[in-house]
Formats: sequence, structure tokens, C-alpha cells
Amino acid sequence: MLGSIRPALCLCCDQLSLDSRDGTSASRFWGQPPRDPRYAGQQPAGRLADRTRSVAVPTVLYRLLFRLVLQNIRPEAAHAGATRVMRIVETVPALSWLLRKLIGPPDPALQVRTLGLTFPSPLGVAAGMDKDATWFEGLGDLGFGFVEVGTITARPQQGNPRPRVWRLSEDQALLNSMGFPNPGADATAARLRDRRGRTIIGANLGKSMTVSIDDAGRDYAESVGKVAPLSDYVVLNVSSPNTPGLRTMQGVERLGGLIANVRQELARIGCQVPLLIKIAPDLSDEELDAIADLALALELDGIVAVNTTVERTGLASGDAAILARAGGISGPPLRARAIYVLERLRARVGDALVLVSVGGITTPDDAWQRVLAGATLVQAYTGLVYGGPSWPRHINRGLSKRVREAGFKSLHDAIGAGVKCASIPQAPSAPTRSGEESSARPRHGRLPVGRASAAR
Ligand SMILES: Cc1cc2nc3c(=O)[nH]c(=O)nc-3n(C[C@H](O)[C@H](O)[C@H](O)COP(=O)(O)O)c2cc1C
Repeated sequence: MLGSIRPALCLCCDQLSLDSRDGTSASRFWGQPPRDPRYAGQQPAGRLADRTRSVAVPTVLYRLLFRLVLQNIRPEAAHAGATRVMRIVETVPALSWLLRKLIGPPDPALQVRTLGLTFPSPLGVAAGMDKDATWFEGLGDLGFGFVEVGTITARPQQGNPRPRVWRLSEDQALLNSMGFPNPGADATAARLRDRRGRTIIGANLGKSMTVSIDDAGRDYAESVGKVAPLSDYVVLNVSSPNTPGLRTMQGVERLGGLIANVRQELARIGCQVPLLIKIAPDLSDEELDAIADLALALELDGIVAVNTTVERTGLASGDAAILARAGGISGPPLRARAIYVLERLRARVGDALVLVSVGGITTPDDAWQRVLAGATLVQAYTGLVYGGPSWPRHINRGLSKRVREAGFKSLHDAIGAGVKCASIPQAPSAPTRSGEESSARPRHGRLPVGRASAAR
């Protein structure tokens, strides 16, 4: 035990002191991107940037806990433990009150009004964290502006056999092949019916594993009928790499059919709820543009971009046995691609759609860069796993500082503000794909000139 305590303490102290005097080391630990010259006008410089990069005591304590305890527990078991603790906090009013007092409400300057809602912070929890819709209120208490529960399927299902989540610690990343384990739409609806209404909830819906792609429309519609009236927005997830064939639903023909099915059901039950789709990072430029055009034509409310990637290169983690497994990678290795997809979508749709950017957000600068690039909202999963419970507060505080430093009255005013000084996005180098989808390697090209001018 002592043997593992000492390196852990050294690691934390090392990070603490290095972070406060040198941004480079912080970048390495958090996987922070180099400053993007295209957003120079809005990015913090000098003392402010250094201050907000320094590491707070709760973060250091969490890193210690992570290194000494959590790292030695299987990721799913650690997740279940965290869920249990948060549910206890949530059900004991005094604890929940104390937590909210400690964390404090997000700065009102972070409020975002979109989708007919007022989000207290643009930072939300990405789908997969609260698959069962059991601890969204606790996540809201930690400072998240909203929680996307699910993925929920019409029928309850176990998902793929365990183990199905692996830590890629050297990359601060995760690999998962969960396959939508969830209690099904009926059970989720029962839980959402009990919600106290504090936290904004999105329902992320997927296809039941046993249903064929041809019947997927009906299957999604069944979930929509049960869950949509109890949710603040709905996301059709057509991008998980862990349900065979699901990503083929991103083709415009199938996607159009799916949206028609879902809209029919919403009309039948008289439910008006914002409708978004969640897409993969591994799409070609042509596929991205086609989805963006379809979303505009069908007047969807927005696009959540992106899900996990099936790419396997550029990773520091060298465990070939783990990397050879099927599944999607999340966290910093996804960052460059997530930014590229966001910029491409924004160039295509302007501000006609709500763009929710997700993938590799670990620092306030990551979140801020997405906002400047046109994301109305951002989400994270892996950042919370490695950052711990104080992480959302850290991001919120950093965002507040960046809003003020850049001279905006509110974060809302900063959405897309970097686009005018951003050039047409250049694709990050596309590494070799592994697995089933390798034939559909992205073909990165330039945007058609006419459409590019739609960017603000
Ligand atoms: C363990 C795990 C489970 C996930 N489950 C889902 C899911 O059920 N539905 C979904 O749409 N995305 C799911 N995701 C993807 C995340 O919502 C997110 O799109 C992705 O992890 C990229 O964000 P990040 O880099 O902040 O983690 C999952 C991710 C992880 C790591």
C-alpha cells in the first residue's frame, strides 16, 4: 500500500506545483489543446489563464483517490459505487442541500436560453453516465446545467457481456462496448415521472438490440411515446458503435424515415419536444454535410456531435489487447475530431440549428473553444470520470472567467463569436481505422463555397 501511496502523492504534488508555474505540464496532464490562434481574440492570456489552470485541492484529493482506489476497481464497479453515493446524497435532503451550498449555483452569466429552456450552465452530462435515469438530480447538484439520460431502448436489455469498459489512463480516455444496457422505456418513464424538476433532462433514445434495422423506426417511436412527454428534449442516437448496424441509420434515407416515424408518434400523443440527433465522429465530410442538410430540411432542433470513435491510432496507451477490442474511444483522443465536426457543421448550418459539442472536453478552455466555434451547449463524460465531482464546478468557474475576460456580458453572447475569425476547418489527420467500419474511412474535403458563407 505504502508503495503505491508514495508515487501517487508524488504525482499529485508534482502536478500541483508544475501546473501553477507552467501551462505545458498542465496541458499534458489534462490533455489540453495548444491555444488555437484562430480564437486568439477571445482566449484568455497571461495571469488569468495561469490561475484558472492551477489545480484545486478537491481535484488533487480526487486524483489521489483515483490513483489509490478507483484505478484498482473495474470501471463499471467504480461507476456503480459513484452512482450509489450520489443517490444517497440525493435522497437525504440535508446532504443534497449541503452539496448545493458547497458547489454553489453556476454564475448567472453562464445561462443559455435555447430549445425553449433556460440552461443554468452550458455544460451538460453526456449520454451513458446516467443510463438508468437514477441520479440525474445528483449530477445537476454537482453543477451540470443538464443531464442527457440513457441511451434508453423500448425494451429492457443487458447490453454486451462484461468487461465492456476499459481505462486508457495514459490518454485520460475510456474504451467502451456497453451496447445500451438499460431498464427500458417503461421503467425509465416511471423514474422520470418522479423527478423533482430541478435538473433539465434530455432523453437519449436508441434501438433495442433484438430489433432489426428495418423495424428501428417503430422501436424508437415506442420509446418516444413513453419518454418524450417526461423529458425536456429528445435525442435520437444513431451513432453508437456498439449496437451492430446502428450507424447505418445515419444514411439520409434511413434517418429521414426514422425522423418521420418519431414525428408521427409525437403528433399522435400531442407532444411538442425539441428533437435532436446524435452523430458519430467517424463520418466522411460528405456524410456530415448530408446529415446537416437533412437536419435543416426536416427542421430538426439540433445535432449532438459526437459519439465515441472507432479510430485507434494516436494513443499513448499501448495495451494492444485492449485496443484490439471492439468499442468506442472517448476523452482527449477524440478532441480534435470533435472540434472539426463542430466547425464543419457550423459552417454548413450557421446558427439555424442548436449544436451540442461533446468529445474530449476536459478543461475550461476546451469548453470555451467549443462555444466560440458555435456550440450552444457542450457535454462531457470522460472528463468527469478523470476529474471527479468538483470537475463541473471547475469548468463552470473557468467559463465565467473567460466570459468576463473576453468582455462578454454573458456566455450566450459568445456562442459562435469565434467563427468569423475561424477559417474553413481542416480535418485532423485521419488515422487508420480498425474493425468493421474501416472501409468507410472519412474523406476530408473542403466545403462548398456557397454554404461556407452561412457561418456567422
Ligand atoms: C462508458 C460510456 C458509455 C457511453 N454510453 C453512451 C450511450 O449510452 N449513449 C450515447 O449516446 N453515448 C454514450 N457514450 C458516449 C458519450 O455520450 C460521449 O458522446 C463520448 O464519450 C464523448 O464524450 P467524452 O469525450 O466527454 O467522453 C458513452 C461513453 C462512455 C465512455
